[in-house]
Amino acid sequence: MTDLPAVRFAGLDIAAAETVVVLVEPELSLGAQAKSLDKKSGGQLLKAAKAGGFLGKRKTVCEVLGPPGIDQQRILMVGRGPAAGASSQDFIDLGGQIMGQLQARKIKKATIVAEGSSGSLDANEAADLALGLLLKGYTFDLYKTTRDEGDQPAPKAELTIAVKSPDAAHEQFERRRALAEGVTIARDLVNEPANVLGPVEFAERASRVADLGVEVEVLEPAAMDALKMHALLGVAQGSVRPARMVIMQWFGAENRRTRPVAFIGKGVVFDTGGISMKPAKGMEDMKGDMAGAACVTGLMHALAARKAPVNALGVIGLVENMPDGNAQRPGDIVRSMSGQTIEVINTDAEGRLVLADALWYVQERFKPKMMVNLCTLTGAIMVALGKEYAGLFANNDRLASWLVESGQATGEKLWRMPLDPAYDKEIDSKTADMKNVGSPYGGACTAAAFLKRFVGDVPWAHLDIAGTAMASNRSDINDGWSNGFGVRLLDRLVQDHYES
Ligand code: BES
Ligand code: ZN
Ligand code: ZN
Repeated sequence: MTDLPAVRFAGLDIAAAETVVVLVEPELSLGAQAKSLDKKSGGQLLKAAKAGGFLGKRKTVCEVLGPPGIDQQRILMVGRGPAAGASSQDFIDLGGQIMGQLQARKIKKATIVAEGSSGSLDANEAADLALGLLLKGYTFDLYKTTRDEGDQPAPKAELTIAVKSPDAAHEQFERRRALAEGVTIARDLVNEPANVLGPVEFAERASRVADLGVEVEVLEPAAMDALKMHALLGVAQGSVRPARMVIMQWFGAENRRTRPVAFIGKGVVFDTGGISMKPAKGMEDMKGDMAGAACVTGLMHALAARKAPVNALGVIGLVENMPDGNAQRPGDIVRSMSGQTIEVINTDAEGRLVLADALWYVQERFKPKMMVNLCTLTGAIMVALGKEYAGLFANNDRLASWLVESGQATGEKLWRMPLDPAYDKEIDSKTADMKNVGSPYGGACTAAAFLKRFVGDVPWAHLDIAGTAMASNRSDINDGWSNGFGVRLLDRLVQDHYES
């Protein structure tokens, strides 16, 4: 896993720090520590702020270098906007903004004074700020051999958060660190190129959650064949790299027999489209077609690392969609594990074939309380929702509204889309039980209708994350190509609704 910045908490004594970050609210209102620095420096901070037109608005900063009268070399005043009504996500974003400012100046060591005009941040607020630092601090530079700093990998940042109750903040931070690790694992997996990360390598990486007490099983093709997962295996047959399915079980609830919440991920390590091949332009992005599986892996890590009191199951279907001499052809008919037959009209609509068997398997074997699957399933969802919202399809209103709420709370936003018999009709086939594509319109909805045919009565939600989980938008807490979409969202869902 990519190294995270080191964060520690200390009391509000900042005497020895070189770079100090202070929070400023509108109309230049400062906390007590910042006020005292200003006073000792003969009013340099406020003077600089005024000279620079800095008022303490959100996303603005003012830097003061070598102020006289104090030991600190550099004071970074970071505007946080009005303190009243700030949400947990606002503190995470603020942490991200601070990290962005430090990164822009190549500052590796700093003390952040977690104090506003009305006193110290509380433990949760300071811990949220620390989470933002970690998330923004992520960089994927494994393959960069030339760096600004020379040949050495950049040293990792060492940050201190000065807060009134450092021990309490640290305790709250532990949970967030687990979460940041989960997000980091997901980001790493999505960022890795497909030559490095095939199904076998992915399965090995996912298996590392066993170190945290997660019980892991890896199914190889022979085992999947015995289970009759021929929809999944049909996708994999054009690749020299064999398929894998990884089953991760976390037993955190009091009773091992409590039915689990289940998370299922599409893990197409590379999607060429197969014989229905994709155009060359932009195809490199298809190394991210396993973002659903990456999210499930990161989520299982986060839940186990924070010892969540819940039984959770993660299942990922790992294949590569390639077009060799043994590849599946358009027109082929495969028999899924459910017994339903599928006419493969387009070999590029492969994610649903993988999920068909994974969803069926999860219900049959584990009888989960509910299931959520994540997949970079359709280009159509990007046409509909762009990169801001992931598509949510659900057979259960309560689960849908919980997911929407978790999305709002974490900024990993979801927009509910229709599951409707009219879309389902589109995938009826003349020769098999169904075909794997519908009409040219509403492609995200016909894909969802397809998945629904492999889901029984269990509360279920399908998240189409093609627009959000790769080639991601930049944000306060994300700089990279992959943002680890879904880990924070689902961790929140579990925490708010499924823990005992
Ligand atoms: N992996 C793609 C979907 C995708 C597209 C993900 C762009 C991320 C960015 C999926 O397997 C696919 O190819 N879907 C086809 C379905 C079509 C053939 C019905 C699509 O969306 O074009
Ligand atoms: Zn495809
Ligand atoms: Zn795909």
